Amino acid sequence: MRTLSAELLVRLQDAHAFDPAPRHADLWRHHVPFDAMKGTGRCEAALDRALRRGERVALVGQSGAGKSSVTAHVLGPLVEGLAPLAVPVAIEDRSIAVDPVAFAGHVVQTVARYVRHAHPADQGRVDRIVKGRTPRRLSKLSITPQWLGASVELTAELASASAADPARRPGQEVIEQAREILDVIASHGLRPVLVLDDTDTWLSGIAGTEAAQIRAGFFGRITRLLAEELAHAAVLAVHENYLRTAEYSRSSGFIDTTIRLPAVPDAAAIGAILEHRVGQQVRRFTLDQVITADALERLLAHYQRGRGRDIRRRVLYVAHTALARACDDAAETIQAVHIDVAISECAPEVAARVRPAPRRDPARG
Ligand SMILES: Nc1ncnc2c1ncn2[C@@H]1O[C@H](COP(=O)(O)OP(=O)(O)OP(=O)(O)O)[C@@H](O)[C@H]1O
Ligand SMILES: [Mg+2]
Repeated sequence: MRTLSAELLVRLQDAHAFDPAPRHADLWRHHVPFDAMKGTGRCEAALDRALRRGERVALVGQSGAGKSSVTAHVLGPLVEGLAPLAVPVAIEDRSIAVDPVAFAGHVVQTVARYVRHAHPADQGRVDRIVKGRTPRRLSKLSITPQWLGASVELTAELASASAADPARRPGQEVIEQAREILDVIASHGLRPVLVLDDTDTWLSGIAGTEAAQIRAGFFGRITRLLAEELAHAAVLAVHENYLRTAEYSRSSGFIDTTIRLPAVPDAAAIGAILEHRVGQQVRRFTLDQVITADALERLLAHYQRGRGRDIRRRVLYVAHTALARACDDAAETIQAVHIDVAISECAPEVAARVRPAPRRDPARG
């Protein structure tokens, strides 16, 4: 028979508590500010300040390091005064990545889409979160950005501003239309923030000279459009690898602020990330009921061995797998041995170099 603590682990496993790749819309819920982990104001607070000053910000980090998570936290559904406009580039026509007119047209269409999806019913959901009465299965619902639900009047204005088909308009007019739409939002005391969070998806999906051309087009012409023509705040997720390329250097002068994602500093911070995830599933618990201090240290060592500061693969994926192994053993907590087994499953090349922990039966302690 399982003990109470073992049941807790099974419950967490059933709820995918350590899911390494949660829905994009849920990222803000899982975020533990790097500023809190490190006792500084150089990450989330710096991004917030820069965006409120209307700057173009590059958020630099490897895949899995937390760029989307930081963005989701700073521009989450509870944010006040900022109007985040996610401008997905990957799924669209490639010309959007390199052609300023196509990009401006895409901004117009993106805003139009927000307007179409504005629904007063969503306001209630946001209100419930603001008042702390978060419904249990909230993660199943999607939330319209607060700024849209906030003003019906603004919604109507935007609808008329974005009604004309940008594809049929001449270049400069499309850019003006994009500017006009952003100005409508700004005139209501909100700061529009263009969010380009998927650059890596399409920048890394192409090879050779075409890749260099697209990177040069994006980092040169699109960042220039953002700065000189649209002149509103923007946040760009930028993979570390691009930082040293000649194409990226074309963005210099058009990007005001560069924020590098910090590393998770210690085992306590890893514990805080996991604790936060557990807290979304159960109310009363202490972290040592879930994972031992040794196991946290092992997880930290594994994270630090990876040069990429990849929280997705080197913390959550391993914790998620270790939780499954602990449940297989009907263990009371996730122990160091479960982390070692999980590392050997998740990153076999690393496990070969790690001294294996002495084998014991975790069920017997
Ligand atoms: N500060 C944090 N607190 C809690 N969880 C975090 C934090 N940073 C990252 N994560 C988690 O790590 C995973 C990866 O984060 P995220 O998706 O933001 O990475 P990314 O840098 O955007 O990666 P990619 O370049 O592949 O898009 C997610 O599961 C996210 O919830
Ligand atoms: Mg991301």
